[in-house]
Amino acid sequence: MMNKVVYPGSFDPITYGHIDIIKRASKIFDYIVIGIAKDNNKTNFLFSETERKSLIKNSLSSIENIEVKIFDGLLTDFVKQENSNIIIRGLRVLSDFEYEFRMALMNRKLDDEITTMFMMPNEKYTHISSSLIKEVASLGGSVDDYVPSEILVELNKKLNENSK
Ligand code: COA
Repeated sequence: MMNKVVYPGSFDPITYGHIDIIKRASKIFDYIVIGIAKDNNKTNFLFSETERKSLIKNSLSSIENIEVKIFDGLLTDFVKQENSNIIIRGLRVLSDFEYEFRMALMNRKLDDEITTMFMMPNEKYTHISSSLIKEVASLGGSVDDYVPSEILVELNKKLNENSK
């Protein structure tokens, strides 16, 4: 049976922290579906879902066993629809734990066949988040170490458009 996993998130935008998790997972599992969730607790996105999808695809073109999809509704329904039973989530710092613990248990309650597995990104990326990258970039700080160059270009373009 193919070992297919789902890595969900908002990815606004994808960072080296996410990419680190995806690269590690791609060596362990047969296939990874990166799921961009339409429904989450965030409202103010910089990039549209389709823009986020193409940014992810462009920055992961060297990895073959992945696919990027946009989904709405419950994550557990999406995981089932993808014929998977594993959700991958990254744990950066201890403060991620409580939120992730609640989500993992709720997802297990929604579907007991689905298991959430946690992976830790490289310690170089444990202090970053997409919001922090956007904030630093919008204030003129360097984020070169945290996002691929193609994302950096799109990020600066978008921030410039928004500041007009
Ligand atoms: N490196 C760097 N940053 C990381 C990271 C990593 N490895 N992993 C997560 N992050 C950051 C993200 O950039 C994001 O930063 P931001 O908040 O500044 O944008 C933050 O950590 C957490 O975001 P993310 O991992 O994208 O998760 P989320 O909290 O936005 O989304 C979903 C959570 C999508 C999994 C959840 O909302 C969901 O399942 N939605 C579907 C509906 C559903 O089923 N709801 C019930 C769930 S029980």
